[in-house]
Formats: sequence, C-alpha cells, structure tokens
Amino acid sequence: MHKRSFLWAGAAILALGFLGTPNLALANGPVVVLPAPDTSGGRPLMACLKDRKTDRRLTGEDLPLPDLSSLLWAAWGVNRPDGRHVVPTARNEQKVMLFVVLSDGVWQYQPENNSIKKVLDGDQRKRFDNASLILLYAAPAGELFSGMHVGSMYQNVGLYCASEGLPNCVKYTRHDALAGELKLPKGWKVLITQSVGSARNR
Ligand SMILES: Cc1cc2nc3c(=O)[nH]c(=O)nc-3n(C[C@H](O)[C@H](O)[C@H](O)COP(=O)(O)O)c2cc1C
Repeated sequence: MHKRSFLWAGAAILALGFLGTPNLALANGPVVVLPAPDTSGGRPLMACLKDRKTDRRLTGEDLPLPDLSSLLWAAWGVNRPDGRHVVPTARNEQKVMLFVVLSDGVWQYQPENNSIKKVLDGDQRKRFDNASLILLYAAPAGELFSGMHVGSMYQNVGLYCASEGLPNCVKYTRHDALAGELKLPKGWKVLITQSVGSARNR
C-alpha cells in the first residue's frame, strides 16, 4: 500500500474505534427525553435475586414515566461517562437495540441521552400479549454474542422488576410480530421479547 493511503486507512480505523457504536438511528419520529433513572433506589441486590421470577399476570396499564425510565436504563442505560453500558458487550461493540411497545406506539430507546424515539404509531401491544409494555431486544441474528447480550439485558430487567414488584415474562413466542415493520439494520432481528405488567405484587 502507498505510504499516504496507509496513513489514511490507519486514521479511519482509529476514528471508527473512537466513535464506537455504529449509527443505528431509524426514521425520524417524536422524541421524549425521559426523567433521570432512579439509580440510588430499589431493594438490595440479594433480595432482588431471591425474588426474580416469571410472573404472567401482565396487565395493560401504562407505567409512570419515571418507572419506564428506570426500567429502560436497567436494560441498556449508559452508566459511565465514556458511554459504556449497564451490561457488557463483546469488544464494547454495543450491537443491540432496545424497543419498547407502549399504548401509543413503538419507541426506540436512545441510551446516550436516556430518551425514546417513536418508530411506529398505534397500539401494537395486542400483537404480543396483554402486557402493559413489551420490550423488544434486537441484535445481529446469528452472531455468536447476540444472545449473550440480550440475555444480560433481560436479566437486568428481571431484577429491576423484582425490586419494584412488577410482573414480567421473557418470551420467544411472537418475538417477530413486528418483523418487516421495524426498520432494522440488515441482518438484525428481534431475538426475544419481555413483557412487563403494571400491577405491583408487593
Ligand atoms: C429465552 C427464553 C424464552 C422464553 N420464552 C417464553 C415464551 O415464549 N413464553 C412464555 O410464557 N415464557 C417464556 N419464557 C419464560 C420461561 O418459561 C421461564 O423463565 C421458565 O419457566 C423459568 O421460570 P422462572 O423465570 O420463574 O425461573 C422464556 C424464558 C427464556 C429465558
């Protein structure tokens, strides 16, 4: 390789390294900046581990916005100034996307500023179940680490739900209910979903 081309290639690789996450933005929709997550609240970790369980008594009331914020942050929030997350990812490539199906549409979680952006209109929840909200975990299908990443995320949410007494269920059934409507990057799929109810059981 010519010396100058070699330098440009090196600079491009360095830039990619610094930029980190690929740009995964979808079509423009309204954005809601969520209240700050409650990162000093909750029950002790060991008590949450003791209580973590599947509970299929899922009801359709909307969660209050502060609770939605903490729940999404538990799944995929940024917890350090360098943009890293509450769950680890292989090589810090951060190749996951999180969507939340609410009564007024499907929203993409934007962890960099703890906001959600609407990507689909209308109440799509019945395409999954009767839950208050449904989390959709998307990642590159068939990549070795994808399942590990989304598994870390749904476990965090399971622990948050145990802390708050919220019923939840990880579900593979109907995981692809919005396939074709969610404009995901090529090769990406919703790998698993997690339904959350609003009726507290404590
Ligand atoms: C990857 C995965 C997929 C699952 N898929 C479904 C599902 O499609 N429907 C369902 O009702 N439960 C589903 N579950 C919930 C399991 O049935 C549940 O976790 C299991 O019975 C153990 O119960 P526990 O979560 O209370 O420990 C799934 C769980 C995991 C981890």
